[in-house]
Amino acid sequence: NRRQFLTAAALTGLASACGSTPATDPAAFRTQLRVPPLLEPSRGEDGTLAFALTMQRGRSALLPGEPVETWGFNGPYLGPTIRASRGDKVRMTVTNRLAETSTVHWHGMRLPAGMDGGPHQPIEPGATWSPHWTVDQPATTSWYHPHPHGATARHVYRGLAGMFIVDDGPAELPSRYGVDDIPLILQDKVLDPAPDPLKGTFGILGDHMLVNGTYRGLLNVRTERVRFRVLNGSNARRYHLTFADGRSFHVVGGDAGPLAAPVEVDRVSLTPGERVEVVVSFTGGEQVLLRTVSGSDDIDEGDFDLVKIVAAPRLAASPPLPGRLAGAPAPVVVPPQATVRRFRLNGHDAINGQEMDMSRIDEVVPAGAVEIWEVENTVYAHNFHIHEVAFQVLDVDGAKPEKWAAGHKDTVYVPPKSTVRLAVQFGKFTDPGTPYMYHCHLLRHEDSGMMGQFVIVEPGTENQVPRTIPLHH
Ligand code: C2O
Ligand code: CU
Repeated sequence: NRRQFLTAAALTGLASACGSTPATDPAAFRTQLRVPPLLEPSRGEDGTLAFALTMQRGRSALLPGEPVETWGFNGPYLGPTIRASRGDKVRMTVTNRLAETSTVHWHGMRLPAGMDGGPHQPIEPGATWSPHWTVDQPATTSWYHPHPHGATARHVYRGLAGMFIVDDGPAELPSRYGVDDIPLILQDKVLDPAPDPLKGTFGILGDHMLVNGTYRGLLNVRTERVRFRVLNGSNARRYHLTFADGRSFHVVGGDAGPLAAPVEVDRVSLTPGERVEVVVSFTGGEQVLLRTVSGSDDIDEGDFDLVKIVAAPRLAASPPLPGRLAGAPAPVVVPPQATVRRFRLNGHDAINGQEMDMSRIDEVVPAGAVEIWEVENTVYAHNFHIHEVAFQVLDVDGAKPEKWAAGHKDTVYVPPKSTVRLAVQFGKFTDPGTPYMYHCHLLRHEDSGMMGQFVIVEPGTENQVPRTIPLHH
């Protein structure tokens, strides 16, 4: 097909014109991109959607060569996609068939602390944990992954991660899963089958890129527009995502909800744990590589092609991209006397000079508060994730965030030697005895102690809350 050949040649030409050699020949991308299956729930009598997940060991040939030991949910690597709507009651049945204790955290979910799946909700080998909650938040691309203190990096690197999609209201964006609504879980791997996830300053930075567990995948698309839900599920790598042909695309959502309106860009950046939803238009008959390009950090070195997208010659019509997005959450409004809390990241194993201690409550927050959290980074690259909340970035060293990154989020890049200020909207579930976490989502840093704990309490009771909690395990 002459047109495809020309496109491939154009790709190569463009890449060398930019001064970088193409990381790979587009022809090398020929394995069908894996799309994690949707997890079918069973419906209980009261309408509760029950989802069953089993953490298990297996073997996968992720990269060329011998299969290696991998871990997954309901399969050998990664996990199925969970999809629920705002208002749904959900119950998760999580069974641990690993040989060691783990947890499952619902990253991005607004839920009671006891359901959060952080280090305080361990699941022993052979045990089952059954959290339940009512989904009540804007449409989001969230995800789930283990969070056992000190071992998150290893458990996630082995493959334990999955997507959790929340729908809210009628679909105005492409939303046929696997057709024009496609998850892209980005992970980088090294050839060593059992690398030390705590080595060096940043832990594992791979040079082999997987998308949904597929190395050099190929995705066929058949519609004029496709929504991609991109999750950085890597241990440390920061991605700067572009298309090899330089095409622009629209960002429609971030970690914690839709943007007010689509924002046209030709590049987005994601640190570990962050998500972005984009809508990409195709003309038909073209093929294009999605790639990440080097930045100026230690955690974004290297140009890598991630996946090849091949558009059918004739594309099915898609609904037009709306000018305003329904269901976008209202801006977080900071009250004049808002509490300001400061968090200092220096080194890689402490926040405000203190290593994570599971028995210590670091912060006590009144339910429903909006606060300013100021995160100062005195060293190299970090990011910052807060459980349970949605926040908006006020500024980074005084500068407003780029438009596409100005929506509701739960994880944010904190550049070297800079200060990020966040307007944080806390939720309404109170539990003075069970903390939520905040931490660097570079998993090597999280595991070595760059993490703290906060509880949400009835307003007015902040001073009565014990600052140490008993540990039961
Ligand atoms: Cu994605 Cu505390 O985690
Ligand atoms: Cu860090």
